[in-house]
Amino acid sequence: MVKKEEKLELLISENKLKKRIKEIADEISKDYEGKKPVFISILKGGGFFLADLVREIKLDLTVDYIAASSYGSNTESSGNVHILKDLSAPVEGKDVIIVEDIIDTGYTLKAIYDILKTRKAKSIKICVLLDKPERRKVKVAVDYVGFKIPDLFVVGYGIDYAERYRNLPYIAVLKSH
Ligand code: IMP
Ligand code: MG
Repeated sequence: MVKKEEKLELLISENKLKKRIKEIADEISKDYEGKKPVFISILKGGGFFLADLVREIKLDLTVDYIAASSYGSNTESSGNVHILKDLSAPVEGKDVIIVEDIIDTGYTLKAIYDILKTRKAKSIKICVLLDKPERRKVKVAVDYVGFKIPDLFVVGYGIDYAERYRNLPYIAVLKSH
């Protein structure tokens, strides 16, 4: 599967992911006690994280999905975020938790946050598995973070390079040469 000119280096093992996801799930379970939050993942990458996360959460919750694309250069997103697939239900009056694989410039999450706010969600929190703080271009309040990572191009656990590597059960740094 790995092309000749590409090399993968393990960054976060399957075990470490699992352990940290359980910790975040416990934190969310506590913070939302007695509430019925809706977990919204941003496809495609965020769907993998959401699936594992909610299975560790013992709340009366629902899930929904949204897909967005941001037009920019190949490796960096821009402020032009378009919805490719919308949610299946309104979020008005709901406690929403947005679940995303990775926050980089912040454009994608900022756009989705603003859309859900316009639609009058009761509360909105953001949960990301990976955060590359050095790369941020717009301010986004992230409430739950799995791992802060340096400015490296990563793949695996839902995160792709040209649609590949999403199926890796761990996070790896992709080195091309
Ligand atoms: P943002 O709008 O720049 O924050 O972009 C977030 C999106 O960019 C993520 O959902 C990923 O699809 C993509 N992305 C950011 N960093 C990486 C990376 O290291 N590998 C693969 N995709 C990435
Ligand atoms: Mg993405």
